[in-house]
Amino acid sequence: MAAPKTLIAGNWKMNGLRADGVTLAKTVAAGAPGVSAKADLLMCPPATLISLVANTLAEALRHGLVSIGGQDCHHEVSGAHTGDVAAPMLTDLGCGYVIVGHSERRTNHSEDDPMVWQKAVAAQLAGLIPIICVGETEEERDRGEALDVVRRQINGSLPDAAKAANVVIAYEPIWAIGTGRTPSLDDIAEVHDAMRALLTDRLNDGDGVRLLYGGSVKPGNAAEILALANVNGALVGGASLNAEDFLAIAAAA
Ligand code: 13P
Repeated sequence: MAAPKTLIAGNWKMNGLRADGVTLAKTVAAGAPGVSAKADLLMCPPATLISLVANTLAEALRHGLVSIGGQDCHHEVSGAHTGDVAAPMLTDLGCGYVIVGHSERRTNHSEDDPMVWQKAVAAQLAGLIPIICVGETEEERDRGEALDVVRRQINGSLPDAAKAANVVIAYEPIWAIGTGRTPSLDDIAEVHDAMRALLTDRLNDGDGVRLLYGGSVKPGNAAEILALANVNGALVGGASLNAEDFLAIAAAA
């Protein structure tokens, strides 16, 4: 199977008021035709901005120039869960993806693998592609446990119905997020090769699952990271808040 098309996903995290969201989304969409041959673009705004961004980008969404995703979802479709957002609500707004199991959710909201699994299943049932995040702490890497952690997290959170078309995995070493530090290219390749081996073992079309790298991806390091054999895109935090940087990362694919 041919390598999956590169996906450059922007995780805006808890950033942006309405005016910022509109400006950022419009600028990214304006540049999207220039990079669309190289990469698919995905923006994951905070829940408060999804509707506005979707309306602003209606034309670009229709033409498949960009996609929109949520940053998290609840595993139930509705109910008494104050403050949470259900997966069908995201679909209803025009989302095609949702990030689940981000390390900031795992750490700040005590989410574990069974919970992330439930969310990923809920996302798929709602017609969304879950982007399942995995990655080790610095202590785990220092102890030589990075591969074990990543394998355990994937095994614990990958839905049974997973296939190349309905799941994305993002490797985000926790110590590289927002720090300006990244693993060596060899270390990224080692983890991504191990993830690929696990997925081809578990799924019929595991070689087609998009594997994203995340953690301090910038225009200056994107090309070498995206050139690695089993890296099929990036999950970008800070640099996704700047349209020029986000587009430059996509152009580096
Ligand atoms: P940074 O790109 O800011 O390191 O964030 C990565 C991330 O957490 C994306 O989900």
